Amino acid sequence: MTALSVSTSSATALRADALVIGVAKGPKGLVVAAGAEAVAEAFEGKLTDLLATLGATGAEGETTKLPAPAGVKAGFVLAVGLGDAAEDGFDGEALRRAAGVAARTLAGAKKAGLLLPAESAEEAEAVALGGLLGAYDFTAYRTTEGGKEPVGELTVLTGRKGSKEIKAAVERATVLGEEMNRARDLVNTPPNDLNPKSFAAIAQAVGKEHGLKVEVLDEKALTKGGFGGILGVGNGSTNPPRLVKVAYTHPKATGTLAFVGKGITYDSGGISLKPAGHNETMKCDMAGAAAVFAAVVAASRLGLAVNVTGWLALAENMPSGSATRPGDVLRMYGGKTVEVLNTDAEGRLVLADAIVRAGEENPDTIVDVATLTGAMVLALGDRTFGVMSSSDEFRDRLHEIAGRAGEQSWPMPLPAELRKTMDSPVADIANMGNRMGGGLVAGLFLKEFVADGIEWAHLDIAGPAFHESAPYGYTPKGGTGSAVRTLVQLAVETAG
Ligand code: BES
Ligand code: MN
Ligand code: ZN
Repeated sequence: MTALSVSTSSATALRADALVIGVAKGPKGLVVAAGAEAVAEAFEGKLTDLLATLGATGAEGETTKLPAPAGVKAGFVLAVGLGDAAEDGFDGEALRRAAGVAARTLAGAKKAGLLLPAESAEEAEAVALGGLLGAYDFTAYRTTEGGKEPVGELTVLTGRKGSKEIKAAVERATVLGEEMNRARDLVNTPPNDLNPKSFAAIAQAVGKEHGLKVEVLDEKALTKGGFGGILGVGNGSTNPPRLVKVAYTHPKATGTLAFVGKGITYDSGGISLKPAGHNETMKCDMAGAAAVFAAVVAASRLGLAVNVTGWLALAENMPSGSATRPGDVLRMYGGKTVEVLNTDAEGRLVLADAIVRAGEENPDTIVDVATLTGAMVLALGDRTFGVMSSSDEFRDRLHEIAGRAGEQSWPMPLPAELRKTMDSPVADIANMGNRMGGGLVAGLFLKEFVADGIEWAHLDIAGPAFHESAPYGYTPKGGTGSAVRTLVQLAVETAG
């Protein structure tokens, strides 16, 4: 794991493999960003020309290596593009992405100094977070020699001597980055190793380490409690399901948040089996539960004055002689009945049980997070999650909170007329309705299970949870840590 530190010592004196500086596209060509002054001086006024000669333009994602000039102790200088230069500085996302690209480029190095703009706490937090996220790599299953390890140590260099705010900002970034990376690890762990039982065991061990109260309902307890949704999805697998409660409490808290995560450790579709081409990435179907767990741990590490309870609805969706059939009726936790028309619409079944259970404890707010529908990916693409809620106000607020946290989201409606497309002749509701607007239909299904008087929102992260194409900015291939920052930001703003 990459270590993150902050230092006000002189950049030229830093003993490291590399110094990272920022460059941007100015109106008259490449400009060197703030923070790199000492390095520019060591190049005796030739830095901009040198970079231009090497073809650098300052474009976002661009990297250019230069040998270190005399007087600089580091081995080489890495210039990373920030995109268009703006008069009022760079926004957080530009800094996070540039730091991320730099950290990824520096895989294999032992130590690097980040000389990107870091005068304000906001800037320092962005640089630190981008660096930690960009350095991430999932190496646990690689045995071949010669594979590069993530950069060992990243030092954020700032001119603000003795600033408490900068130190606190880098500490916040460390928690957020490490917890997003925890969620990524959980998502990337192959489903033959991450199953409901092993996920629950991780939650218990990590929860203990961070002062959380963790309770696990195993298949016996779930049967006794009448959790028909979670059991119905899990009963086709030799890996039995679990419902995990992870509670963080603060003595001065005035509000309580409940986060509910879809934790399908593998989604084969069940008897409504997914065809090849649709199942290769379905280990990512527990990304909601991973985000929820990581967010609760982060709330605890940050000591936020708010109570946060996470509910992880864990099951493996497999076909077998004991699997739920299309046509079966499940009796959900709390008593509602559901006709299962498609066993591949399993996420809403495990979430329904967990949402009812979460509601029994009377939280002010429930936010569920799920890789719920392919329809949401079709609607919003693979970098934006959908936000739905029974309250337009809360939906819009969460969308804004996500934006402040640096995540792309979009408010989606819950059109009432779609509810009747889930009418069932035999049960209270079917688990499938209109294919058109399928993401909204899924949202309307979940809404049926939210107790009156509780504020509720649903985040469909099916698009951004798992990144399949080339890495960009601080986003690697595979698990991304989607929704962690949004949940933590909601907790921060609830704590006040
Ligand atoms: N886990 C999938 C949704 C998904 C699709 C996540 C692509 C990530 C990427 C979910 O369980 C599912 O299969 N949904 C079905 C629902 C349908 C049968 C009503 C879907 O979206 O096709
Ligand atoms: Mn499915
Ligand atoms: Zn699924």
